[in-house]
Amino acid sequence: MKILEITGGNTLEGTIRISGAKNSAVALIPASILADEESTILNIPEITDIDALCDILGYLGAETKKSSESIIINPKNMKNKEISDIYSRKLRASYYFMGALLGKYKKASMYFPGGCSIGARPIDLHLKGFEALGAKVKVKGNKYTVEAKNLVGAPIYLDIASVGATINIMLAAVKAKGITTIDNAAKEPEIVNVATFLNNMGARITGAGTSTIKIRGVEHLHGCFHEVIPDRIEAGTYLIIGALCGKNLKIDNIIPEHLDSLISKMKEAGVDLKIGSDYIVVNKKNDYKAVSAKTAVYPGFPTDLQQPFTVFLTKCKGTSHMTETIWENRFMHVPYLISMGADIEVNGDTLNIKGPTDLHSSEVVATDLRAGAALVAAALSAKGTTKITNVEHILRGYEKIVEKLKGVGAKIESLEI
Ligand code: EPZ
Repeated sequence: MKILEITGGNTLEGTIRISGAKNSAVALIPASILADEESTILNIPEITDIDALCDILGYLGAETKKSSESIIINPKNMKNKEISDIYSRKLRASYYFMGALLGKYKKASMYFPGGCSIGARPIDLHLKGFEALGAKVKVKGNKYTVEAKNLVGAPIYLDIASVGATINIMLAAVKAKGITTIDNAAKEPEIVNVATFLNNMGARITGAGTSTIKIRGVEHLHGCFHEVIPDRIEAGTYLIIGALCGKNLKIDNIIPEHLDSLISKMKEAGVDLKIGSDYIVVNKKNDYKAVSAKTAVYPGFPTDLQQPFTVFLTKCKGTSHMTETIWENRFMHVPYLISMGADIEVNGDTLNIKGPTDLHSSEVVATDLRAGAALVAAALSAKGTTKITNVEHILRGYEKIVEKLKGVGAKIESLEI
């Protein structure tokens, strides 16, 4: 078992280079199979979720060549096969193979996807979208088979602006006959990145990044070169760590506009941020003010930063409120923060956080990816040595987290016990 051992209190100084966005890359890889030729995707993060997707590609017979930060995917010899429960359960984004295989072969069969246990995470909107395009959905236990004689473009309205459903419907619709519109589409930058990739392959998608996406079906998609956007959630996590322990800590290779909601909350609390064209420099201060935030779909405050931001709020003077509106089970970091000295009360979907509090070391568990990131942030600012178990969750989404933090002066070790 892997654990992280972190001794807090060090000042973090230097530069952290942000990797390619996990939530973009995990959609781009399944999307690549829609082409009949090889594609190259640059700025791929080295995280275990990518390894899991490559295992699925290999199982389907697609050739992959991975080098540092890039991947070449050749789907020429692949075959449409049922994706087993074990592969499907390895990560949430396995569900993008449903849209991509349906779009390519008009049939996909796989099991309910895995991922962090942060809520029930239904996929009804994905399935409704496939049905609107003409597919029949069969559900047997945990197994989902979607099949269509012909996929025909259709107007689709999403009851919730779901990231996964928006991308999955785009994947299924790019080769459908006619025009598909997705209304109340999600607007996250990762969706724009995936739509740009598909357009580079010859798709005709307009409106990505707005709440109405229009897809004109095409017959053929070709290979292309594409680059993954910087990971705004990784960047936000390190900005928060910088506000807790940074001295001229530069978070580099980012798109600051993607972090507007976090930046505005941090500024409201009094964080010292210097914003450049593709970087932000952050300095720790000792007089932060309590602020309140509520998670929302993009461009609102990202749910994926709620847990790390909670740690920052323990350092703010007064009572802060953090409301989670996207996931019903995303407060599992809270008992561990309390064990480290935080004063947090859970009131339904809202955390009431009294601060400032001094955090101290404890033995804690990364129950999910961003809970793990929150605990890393807490441990870096705490007195003593904290041990974090279930580190596998963190490695699913943060490339070289130990090396990146060590590089700016953190005392952090990954140990096998
Ligand atoms: C994506 O999950 C991200 N994952 C999540 O990041 C992120 O938290 C989430 O979007 C919201 O931003 C990936 O991109 C792989 P949704 P996704 O569909 O697509 C409900 C992280 O930490 N819903 O936008 O699964 C759902 O229950 C991860 O990196 C339905 O009811 O999220 C939730 O309440 C965790 N039916 C809301 O919509 C559906 O069919 C938003 O979910 C689909 C979703």
